[in-house]
Amino acid sequence: MLNSTDGESKIAILGAGAIGQLLFHQLAKASEAPYLIGRSAHAATAINISNMTPLHFTDVLGEQVERQAQLICPESQQLIEIDLLIVCVKAYQVLDALKPLIPKLKPHCHLLLLHNGMGPHLKIAKLLNGRGLSLGTTSQGALRPKPWHIIQTGTGLTQLGHYGGPMMSMQLKQQLLDSIPNSQWCEPILPMLWQKLAINIAINPLTAIYNCRNGELAKPQYHNDICALLNEVFTVAEAEGLTLDRSALTQRVFDVIHLTANNHSSMHQDIYYQRKTEIDAINGYLITRAQHHHIATPCNTKVYQQIITLQNYGQSA
Ligand code: PAF
Repeated sequence: MLNSTDGESKIAILGAGAIGQLLFHQLAKASEAPYLIGRSAHAATAINISNMTPLHFTDVLGEQVERQAQLICPESQQLIEIDLLIVCVKAYQVLDALKPLIPKLKPHCHLLLLHNGMGPHLKIAKLLNGRGLSLGTTSQGALRPKPWHIIQTGTGLTQLGHYGGPMMSMQLKQQLLDSIPNSQWCEPILPMLWQKLAINIAINPLTAIYNCRNGELAKPQYHNDICALLNEVFTVAEAEGLTLDRSALTQRVFDVIHLTANNHSSMHQDIYYQRKTEIDAINGYLITRAQHHHIATPCNTKVYQQIITLQNYGQSA
């Protein structure tokens, strides 16, 4: 196992949500604790004499541990020390969160985007000024009952891979793979992201629209809707130059429905708690790519509009 202090590489995590904090604990357990970049307000309330914040972690076996995190704000001078910035904010926050940070990062700082859905990488890649960009997806699950306490709820696969610019150094790559359980480096990464996108496209909006747990979608009345949404994914992916295995991926969607039967999907929770959803980076991303190729996506457009209506209603309530 590599210790980041050996190679002097500094990692920082942008976004102190459930996945950001989960990665913090996994990296801190394996080697040096990364910086955690929170919103200015978060960081300001966390700054005490030592500028350290205790983060609480309960693992899947129920074991608890407390680790000290150095929480820095987006204006911090310490940004210049960072060799790898892992971006764990929601897809719709990525651009606004990164734009002011990028000029403060060293010219060789590498970025890794890790969020549900797709899309921000297209704009971010153009802003990096020669810095390298990797993308990833994780099926690890975590809940955040308190701002600085997370509970790991699932031990899913994490897939990471190169997207553009200079490659991530071997040392950083190895450090990530050693620290994140069940993680793998995938080249190319885009087919993996599309597979996860397909799962989210089929499960998330339907659970939110029908106000149900994931397992409900195994009922025959949802079968046609799921297949129709996926058919549009396969057509658009093909136009993007990707060949997805139709039957394997359809099977995978139904496997995930069974494996997560008791869960409320993230979009169901966003609608339930009247928060902004990730629809633009999920079904919305597919629709945007389809428009680019002049492909009609009536099923995805219908659920997209239904979610926007629910989201607007929730946010105006
Ligand atoms: O977004 C989610 O909730 C999850 O990615 C998934 C796989 C749909 C399970 O709930």
